[in-house]
Amino acid sequence: MTSQQRTIAILTGGGDCPGLNAVIRAVVRTAHMHHIRVLGIERGYGGLLGNGRVYELTLDHVKDILHLGGTILGTTNRGNPFCYETSAGPIDKSDEVLLQLKQLQVDSIISVGGDGSQKIAFELFKKGINVIGIPKTIDNDLHGTEVTFGFQTAMQIATDALDRLHSTAESHDRVMILEVMGREAGFIALHTAIAGAADVCLIPEIPFNIDVVCEKIQTRIRRGTYFSLVVVAEGAFMNHDQPNIIEISQQGAAKRFSGIGDKVAAMIREKTDREVRVTVLGHIQRGGTPLAYDRILATRMGVHAINALINHERGVLVGIQNNQMITTPLETVLSQSKQVDILSDTVKAARAVGITFGDEPISN
Ligand code: F6P
Repeated sequence: MTSQQRTIAILTGGGDCPGLNAVIRAVVRTAHMHHIRVLGIERGYGGLLGNGRVYELTLDHVKDILHLGGTILGTTNRGNPFCYETSAGPIDKSDEVLLQLKQLQVDSIISVGGDGSQKIAFELFKKGINVIGIPKTIDNDLHGTEVTFGFQTAMQIATDALDRLHSTAESHDRVMILEVMGREAGFIALHTAIAGAADVCLIPEIPFNIDVVCEKIQTRIRRGTYFSLVVVAEGAFMNHDQPNIIEISQQGAAKRFSGIGDKVAAMIREKTDREVRVTVLGHIQRGGTPLAYDRILATRMGVHAINALINHERGVLVGIQNNQMITTPLETVLSQSKQVDILSDTVKAARAVGITFGDEPISN
């Protein structure tokens, strides 16, 4: 390291998603071209708090990782330094993080993460360290970008799963339910339902009436089609009900959803007397190699993050809009939550091709 050389750090936080290694590679390669030194922090902020290493990322570290799932830096969705879990309960370790960064001569952090990670990044920014955020999540639920990397891969994995369920559903005359991830956003479910020719799609943005869902299945049977495909987002819920949360947010960790698939299955079984099976796709949606689309988007975002640093931008999130790279202040990004627009062309297209969201009037 030369005395004038600038040092930045990169970390990946929250749940992993396909494309994280692509973004790390792009950041390191671009920074290297501009003679910027990059430190990798392991396990979110853990590496600064005794739970992992901090080391210089060289071109060798990012060799042959573009196509790999996961993250070479490791990640966690439980490492919020403002609310750090210890045996004595949660404590604020943010000053320790800032001190460590100062000692390492880090002038900026590149925070690759979803809304939880960007909230932490923004809090640190308010305490004086520059931050450039890069949005990642399979859920696609972040403002400031039309799409996050990881989403396309997750949607393709879910679509492949639905295609496989399609043939077995048809062979057995069954109702097949596919529960997909997404937290409070239905993007994965909606796009999978369209791509995989589902009959029913249940998303958090449209609370459903189970009678409407069952009526769709019965109508198909009356027309001579004895199987149905139902895609349900983990955060979907019935009219006048609440999402199925299996772990409430605590100590800075995100709440966890699951189980709505089984709940819907039990109701369909009871009301239609059909055979129903449930597949919960879970973390398969997050693992493995990223699609080319996500590798390219992650690469563009990594490059743009370094460009933003060089252009003296501070406290912003990198994003894509109309195929152009943009930045948006983190404050603006975090002031809104992103969900499926229920009046969008995509939802209208789904309805037009016969997908039921469970909110339509029952037609006899
Ligand atoms: O935010 C990404 C995501 O995969 C959500 O879709 C899902 O609800 C959650 O993370 C699962 O988190 P965990 O890895 O803690 O089970």
